[in-house]
Amino acid sequence: MIIEKLKKLVIANWKMNMSYKDSYEFLEKLTNAKSNNVEIIILPSLLHTKSLIDKFPSVNFGVQNITHLSDKSGAFTGEVSSSQAREIGAKFVLCGHSERRNFFEENNKITSEKIKYILNDELIPIICIGENVKARMMGTTNSSLKSQIKACLPETDKKIIIAYEPIWAIGTGKMPPKNYIEDTCGFLNEHLSSVAKNARLVYGGSVDAKASEWLSSCNYIDGVLIGSSSTMINEFIKIIKSYD
Ligand code: PGA
Repeated sequence: MIIEKLKKLVIANWKMNMSYKDSYEFLEKLTNAKSNNVEIIILPSLLHTKSLIDKFPSVNFGVQNITHLSDKSGAFTGEVSSSQAREIGAKFVLCGHSERRNFFEENNKITSEKIKYILNDELIPIICIGENVKARMMGTTNSSLKSQIKACLPETDKKIIIAYEPIWAIGTGKMPPKNYIEDTCGFLNEHLSSVAKNARLVYGGSVDAKASEWLSSCNYIDGVLIGSSSTMINEFIKIIKSYD
């Protein structure tokens, strides 16, 4: 069963990294190192996804993006739809990532369109939300997160994953302290219980093996979303092992 409550989630967002050869070799090593306590989700380059799904049927795969323009097909050069992602066997779709918001000007409205398609296609959205530095400084993190959820997520009892990623922590090597993450995730858990009762909550932003050691014992979080450390097999295996 996908994202069952007893297991922690370790999500690898490879972004525009990893050649096909690198991806293949990584997954060969990973399949030997699996842990029973953890569900691993890999988000490879879209170009490699179908082939990797076929070669590694025991791994959970998702895609890093779908279009908000149609859930099926159409004259949208360069885009892929949720039904195409589903057709190749992807189970998860990342959406709302701060890099999409920043470089591609994707706002909450676009993110909400994508989430609608993802849920209709019975895929599981991994929805990124996070506060910027200003909200952190002003102490408005919780209200900022709440309004992002309100603007892009309909009330649902379908399975979803919320990735709490402070924008200032992504790719910077900076992380909030444990009590800040626990307070924020405690708030999010409480809030999500009335909006999306089958939501699971992961933390993302500069997670490496060292951080994973203490994150794995944090209250209110069900796992991690990892960028750069997820492309290094030894580091990634250490992260998985931190849940043993
Ligand atoms: P990072 O990326 O682990 O490299 O900070 C996280 C993310 O982009 O989700």
